[in-house]
Amino acid sequence: MAYNVLISDPLSEEGIHPLREVENIHVVMETDLSPAQLEDRIAEFHALLVRSQTQVTRELISKATNLKIIGRAGVGVDNIDLDAATENGIIVVNAPNGNTNSAAEHTVAMMMALSRNIPQAFHALKNRKWDRKKYVGVEIRNKTLGIVGLGRIGAEVAARAKGQRMDVIAYDPFLTAEKAEQMGIGYGTLEEVLKKADFITVHTPLMKETRHMINAKSFEIMKSGVKIINCARGGIIDEDALYDAIVSGKVAGAALDVFEEEPFIDHRLLDLEQVVATPHLGASTIEAQEIVAIDVSRDVISFLNGDVVNNPVNLPSVPSEIMHKIAPYFHLAEKLGTFLIDLTNEVPEEVSITYSGDLSGIEVAPLTRNTVKGLLKRYLGSHVNDVNALYLADKKGIKVNESKTSSTKGFTNLITVVIKTNSGTRKVSGTLLNGFGPRLVKVDEYSVDVTPQGHMVVIQHVDQPGVIGRMGSTIAKHNINIATMQVDRSDIGGNAIMVLTIDKHLETEALAELKSLEEIKEVTAIDL
Ligand code: NAD
Ligand code: MLT
Repeated sequence: MAYNVLISDPLSEEGIHPLREVENIHVVMETDLSPAQLEDRIAEFHALLVRSQTQVTRELISKATNLKIIGRAGVGVDNIDLDAATENGIIVVNAPNGNTNSAAEHTVAMMMALSRNIPQAFHALKNRKWDRKKYVGVEIRNKTLGIVGLGRIGAEVAARAKGQRMDVIAYDPFLTAEKAEQMGIGYGTLEEVLKKADFITVHTPLMKETRHMINAKSFEIMKSGVKIINCARGGIIDEDALYDAIVSGKVAGAALDVFEEEPFIDHRLLDLEQVVATPHLGASTIEAQEIVAIDVSRDVISFLNGDVVNNPVNLPSVPSEIMHKIAPYFHLAEKLGTFLIDLTNEVPEEVSITYSGDLSGIEVAPLTRNTVKGLLKRYLGSHVNDVNALYLADKKGIKVNESKTSSTKGFTNLITVVIKTNSGTRKVSGTLLNGFGPRLVKVDEYSVDVTPQGHMVVIQHVDQPGVIGRMGSTIAKHNINIATMQVDRSDIGGNAIMVLTIDKHLETEALAELKSLEEIKEVTAIDL
């Protein structure tokens, strides 16, 4: 299949080289499209690559009828409507590691520029003003840097600040005393950090929980003369409250790289001499831009080729070594789901998946998604995929349970899927036989050994002499060849099951004739 990839924000040409190299991928770089133009054209594309400028809204996604993947060349995904992407089965990937260093360096550069009034002094000198008195600064040595959000960038900033002999104190919900000690920094609550710091830098993502987390109340508890840095995201700091705090003299200055609305060209904060600013340049280095574009291009190529991606945003991130271990089970998991839904022919209320043996000690969330995908496809069609399977199940009120057990029941690995419907519970188990591929090994309580593929018939009957022959001749009458047959029974003369694989679909007429046989309790045609 040929794929069209749209790059709608400027990306490093070297970075997107891997994409241009792929024969069936056609790359279009259009970085000046208005939102309306983008909406008009988006249906042409299977992949969209953006930085922070393109707003990937729900409206845009609703028009993106062929879009399979959105690649964000950078960390922040606040310009992408993740819920809308997930609901529409579009995977979002980002490049979280490539610009960490550049963003940390920029943060330190901004802190230095702020402490020594470098931009203001430079600006004055450009205007032929030699003023040494006005631009006296402060040292950062022995000052306390408060870091809010100690993730990748926050931690790099901490290391650099320590190199500048600053005292560092941080707040991050994941920061423990032990980790802070290892890093040689202090830690506290948000309030403690805000109260103690001479410089405060924020490095959280922008989310509803962090929007305006630094606000008028926060400025009130800070030290007088504090300096603020934001190289993370506009909106983490309330810009109006910051303006007031600077004008009142509480805050001595601010260094801002990011803004609530970008481009940020017409804002009163820019009129204040105490504010130094750059136009969202944190990640704008040759190195970072190349790395993020390469990372995201590689994930787009992998995804379009059906391979595992490294940096999914709207799927749980599973380490690649685990992903490679469980990838061979994807097909089995999906087929178990489809088999079971065909067998019951009813919408499930609850799905419970148990992983045993080799699968009991590893992350299996992607297998659960594949099983649920297999179940839902029968009712919701082919737009169900790994990305939206659990969302759609939840929306349809289907409870999904996942459990693990080390008990192997004689198999080195086993996936058992149980579904609860209005009329009862049905169960199927499958295993991956080393060298032989996937096998169905249990249907309800009966043992079988069948490859889950192609056309199948599951017949529940009474264990009596002649039944198998009668069923065989009925099927033969309809010119259908039986490829394999598995039979099992509860006890002699009791309930029994027959699982056949046949060479073509079992038509309604043949199905009805089979059902009319006296000993038959249930016949289900399954196409995998
Ligand atoms: P990260 O995910 O590694 O770190 C974010 C940290 O914030 C995490 O440790 C998380 O626990 C913490 N956090 C979340 N909510 C918090 C809260 N309420 N209070 C305190 N901490 C909280 O992300 P990162 O790669 O370090 O990026 C940090 C920010 O920098 C993001 O907003 C990203 O978009 C931005 N960024 C900006 C530029 C730029 O060009 N200016 C470049 C790269 C990244
Ligand atoms: C990011 O979140 O990675 C940055 O905003 C970088 C960018 O794309 O400009």
